[in-house]
Amino acid sequence: VTGHPRRVRVATDPGYDVLVGSGVRAAVVDMLPDSVSRVAVVHTATVADTAVGVASSLQQTGREVLPLVVPDGERAKTTAVVDELWSTLGTAGFTRSDAVVSVGGGAVTDVAGFAAATYLRGVAVLHVPTTLLAMVDAAVGGKTGINTTSGKNLVGAFHQPRGVLCDLDLLRTLDRRDIAAGLAEVVKCGFVADPGILSLVEGDPVASTDPSSEVLATLVERAVGVKAAVVSADEREATSRGSRVGREMLNYGHTLGHAIERTEGYAIRHGEAVAVGMVYAAELGCRGGALPAVVVERHRTVLAAVGLPVSYPAGHWPALLAAMRVDKKARGHTLRFVVLDDIAKPTILAAPREELLREAYTAVSGR
Ligand SMILES: NC(=O)c1ccc[n+]([C@@H]2O[C@H](COP(=O)([O-])OP(=O)(O)OC[C@H]3O[C@@H](n4cnc5c(N)ncnc54)[C@H](O)[C@@H]3O)[C@@H](O)[C@H]2O)c1
Ligand SMILES: [Zn+2]
Repeated sequence: VTGHPRRVRVATDPGYDVLVGSGVRAAVVDMLPDSVSRVAVVHTATVADTAVGVASSLQQTGREVLPLVVPDGERAKTTAVVDELWSTLGTAGFTRSDAVVSVGGGAVTDVAGFAAATYLRGVAVLHVPTTLLAMVDAAVGGKTGINTTSGKNLVGAFHQPRGVLCDLDLLRTLDRRDIAAGLAEVVKCGFVADPGILSLVEGDPVASTDPSSEVLATLVERAVGVKAAVVSADEREATSRGSRVGREMLNYGHTLGHAIERTEGYAIRHGEAVAVGMVYAAELGCRGGALPAVVVERHRTVLAAVGLPVSYPAGHWPALLAAMRVDKKARGHTLRFVVLDDIAKPTILAAPREELLREAYTAVSGR
């Protein structure tokens, strides 16, 4: 471990630490309870070197390691893969005093987390996220899940990890566009809860995308801090009540963002779709609520500064509106948007007029 790792506490029950810094993956041996004698290391082939390193440090503490390779990306999040993980754990005679360690992007932390949540009704899991998105979002908060033929993340469980190790060294092999996409969720945390994040990105957009910079370390720490606070207060995403917006605030930019992903057949990066979705939500919050126009403009400048898209073609509106409606129908409620009254003041806009929705879209497309 080099430099000073930062530590963020997630106060769920049980609670756990998220370590952020260069080299923190070495702490994997300290974060597992002593009683753990066997560890399944779930990873993709793309991060095999990292997984081998994690496995050998575990072996040096006398633990038996079972490497489990899963397919890359969304292909890992299937019942077939979960079935294979359960079977392998069963064959190896895993017990509740053994543990799972995930090494990979959000797809890996999701599927390994789900297998850990369900095997023997729950064994310990520790995440070593290897993408920025997984560090600031997927690995923290205890949501795990897989996809079905009807849609993404439709099956899952809440299962908090024992710890999360955000080793910034691992981001060095990630391409720049993936770092930018992860930063969309960081900027989101800035708008819904921690304006200091926005100032940091605006102050040095280049360092914000550089894994070796202290700026990115601080951004990850603060974004995780936002997620930790929100999740601690609303662990299982109870619906937001009245003016209190709980975990749902993390969906800022996601209503339109998900529609963009769906209509593009998931060919666009999640963070890029969410970036456009946040500009859209800002336009909604301005036209249909209290958000000052200058904050809408700030969405555009901060997102564009790190190379994220802030507009989308005009002709796509009918398909996007239809996709948003289908999504909501599937979840059994009317269209809902997280919007801002101001920075760090999220609120819910439910069932807005179609005219308002279209006007806000025109502002996102027509420049
Ligand atoms: N559970 C949650 O709360 C939550 C939150 C957000 C997202 N998610 C899930 O996370 C997934 C998206 O996460 P993601 O963007 O990390 O996707 P991913 O896991 O598919 O990883 C993206 C790509 O990056 C590669 N990769 C991973 N680490 C790398 C590294 N260090 N260097 C080079 N390449 C690397 C992977 O092999 C993969 O091809 C989605 O399935 C989404 O549903 C879950
Ligand atoms: Zn997201």
